[in-house]
Amino acid sequence: MVHGSREPADLLIGPAAQVATPRAAERPPAGPQQGRLEVIPEGAVAVRDGRVVAVGPYADLARRFDPAEVLDASGCTVVPGFVDPHTHLCFAGWRAEEFERRLAGASYQEILAAGGGILDTVRRTREAPEVELAAALRRRLLEVLRLGTTTVEVKSGYGLTTADELKMLRAIRRAADPADDLDGTWPLGAGAGESARGPRLRTNRPGAAAHTALPAAGPGAAGQAATGAPGTTSPAPARAPSAAGPAATGAPGAAGKDATWAPGAASPAGGLVLPEVVATFLGAHAVPPEYRGRPDGYVDRIVEEMLPAVAREGLAEYADVFCEQGVFDLEQTRRIVEAARRLGFRIRLHVDELTPLGGAGLAAQVGAVSADHLLHVRDEDIPRLREAGTIATLLPGTAFFLREPYAPARKLIGAGVPVALATDYNPGSHPAGSMPLVMAIACVGMGMTPAEALVASTLGGAWAVERARRLGSLEPGKQADLVVIDAPSYQHLAYRLGTVPVVAVVKGGRVVAL
Ligand code: NIG
Ligand code: FE
Repeated sequence: MVHGSREPADLLIGPAAQVATPRAAERPPAGPQQGRLEVIPEGAVAVRDGRVVAVGPYADLARRFDPAEVLDASGCTVVPGFVDPHTHLCFAGWRAEEFERRLAGASYQEILAAGGGILDTVRRTREAPEVELAAALRRRLLEVLRLGTTTVEVKSGYGLTTADELKMLRAIRRAADPADDLDGTWPLGAGAGESARGPRLRTNRPGAAAHTALPAAGPGAAGQAATGAPGTTSPAPARAPSAAGPAATGAPGAAGKDATWAPGAASPAGGLVLPEVVATFLGAHAVPPEYRGRPDGYVDRIVEEMLPAVAREGLAEYADVFCEQGVFDLEQTRRIVEAARRLGFRIRLHVDELTPLGGAGLAAQVGAVSADHLLHVRDEDIPRLREAGTIATLLPGTAFFLREPYAPARKLIGAGVPVALATDYNPGSHPAGSMPLVMAIACVGMGMTPAEALVASTLGGAWAVERARRLGSLEPGKQADLVVIDAPSYQHLAYRLGTVPVVAVVKGGRVVAL
């Protein structure tokens, strides 16, 4: 055998200044475990068949493995791919004007009560064809992948009729399927909506792209269509990771048209790579205009028509409710949750975001997988969350953006409630998809440590979407989803206020072009 006594591997990531990862256990990380990381200086990760086979000192792994490719991460830090367990990434239209109104003093709830806010996005999402929603969503999936998110939960909730909720959920399913060309509109064709606009860098001489030197920040900062395949022929800058090895060097045709490496594509061999998507039905996101003043009528519609229709098509794994004063009260939330559970949905809930309604207590009582937001969680509900094994998914970017007080992360961690972090990416309360930014706000705003924030953004998130056996940490047997940042230690994720360069993303063992 060519590799002698060494074991074969598809990819060796290293040497890295540091590999930092939580260690999975039988239960979600909580209390003192919330901040426990394994940190390996001069570390490496070996990958085979899309899975991690070993994590350890580079010197050991280099001796043990004969890898087909090497992703040199000198000077960089390797962490697990981020798992973002709460987003509203599927939507049409932004709400920048509302941002200005809020800055001028209007509250989020006042705007919603007057038929704006979420309902503004509902109007525009209803107008959008399914394929257009899917294309816009796919662009956002690639946007968050570039920021290091390898798994993301996406909710419906801007349709609020059976047909429009199904349209959203079908769009979510299609956007997440790399084999779906979205009726021939992908990539960048007509129908891709807002996402198809913007400057395009075109390569006129196909051979030229592969020879373009990469910018100092690494492949992440390079243009889209004309990005040369990193590692094919260009000399990589010293501190940026580069793939090298038999499969990546001198690939036939690398200087031709195929050398163009589109965003989201894996290796010069191509193939679109997207974050894994977890779909949630959030028909109970707001009371639609047709049911204004008759919320119970809308709850009937959700229970009798929407939930069964979504279940029939198998379009969502979870059901969610915006349990909030002036939206859905505790009783209405309970009705929806009970109907959803009977149909086999797992439960996650928006609770105690703007008022202390006691939604966290309800979440614990109904055995929700995750209770989200919790800015105004009541003290008495905190032990209930712990006893129920419900994850507290905190979204401090939303508190920051709405200028609301932060959730009591220290109290929750002190009480042994497992904490996950999420972006909430949506056009109203947090129009951004960066997990590192959320980690920064979690530390500065809620007093979490950088280690706690990283655990909450990886293994914590994986527990919040019930995928912790496969995702969320770098350990033998786990899916090889990881992020390489151009920084000497994991603390930089929070410390650099979310701006630390992501220089490589690996998803299921495939190196993704950013
Ligand atoms: O989690 N709270 C309700 N839903 C979102 C906001 C959605 C929107 O404003 O469009 C949230 O904050
Ligand atoms: Fe939300």
